Amino acid sequence: MEVYIANDYTELCKIASKNILNVIKSKPNAILGLPTGGTSIGMYKELVKMYKEGILSFSKVTTFNLDEYEGLGKEDANSYYKFMYDNFFKHVDIKYDNINIPDGLASDSNKECEEYEMKIRKAGGMDLVVLGIGENGHIGFNEPSDFFSGFSYRVKLHEDTIRANSRFFNSADEVPKYALTMGIRTIMLSKKIMLLASGENKAKAIKSAIEGVITPSIPASILQLHRDVTVVLDKKSASLLS
Ligand code: F6R
Repeated sequence: MEVYIANDYTELCKIASKNILNVIKSKPNAILGLPTGGTSIGMYKELVKMYKEGILSFSKVTTFNLDEYEGLGKEDANSYYKFMYDNFFKHVDIKYDNINIPDGLASDSNKECEEYEMKIRKAGGMDLVVLGIGENGHIGFNEPSDFFSGFSYRVKLHEDTIRANSRFFNSADEVPKYALTMGIRTIMLSKKIMLLASGENKAKAIKSAIEGVITPSIPASILQLHRDVTVVLDKKSASLLS
């Protein structure tokens, strides 16, 4: 596990986007797993900047998003589909056919997850998956549990996550209670993993994930068992590391 501690969020985003640049440079048709959420916004801004400067092209890249809320459609302001288009996809040269996001409006979420998993496998698996981390240690929407999850599945969101994400909605009641997410096994099968965390509110989760025991009550702790993980933190999220 390689850990980079950036001075601040701006530097964190530059390091993260550079790591993605390097993956695409060595494999222009890379398969990327991508997160949404506040932490990723600055990274997408940097990637868009690199594209506009002509340093980077996404024309051969395929993406798979980590997750989507159940019940939210493409046009919903809070869907991850909309987040990805607004913050990233519509600003770069990615082929829309190469974009994959679980369908939050699928009539059968479990079936949708099975098909999503098959698509990832058919594409040859992910070269790099980029992750954020929840304050409760979740990755994707793999919430603290008694066991590590397997492949992509429909998950009931933890109340901590609903509370944390309610900042994007009018109230906590509006936050969907279920989501479709890549499973821990899906994530661990990626060739490379990059975990990002910014801010004091992530310091405890980062400490447990990186230095604590490997336990499904901190889903991110499983990353200690992967052979190619890069963790990019800012000083605040790294503040409890020994
Ligand atoms: C979102 C996702 C989540 C977030 C995590 C951190 O696609 O998979 O695991 O990465 O909740 O979210 P922020 O960055 O908003 O703190």
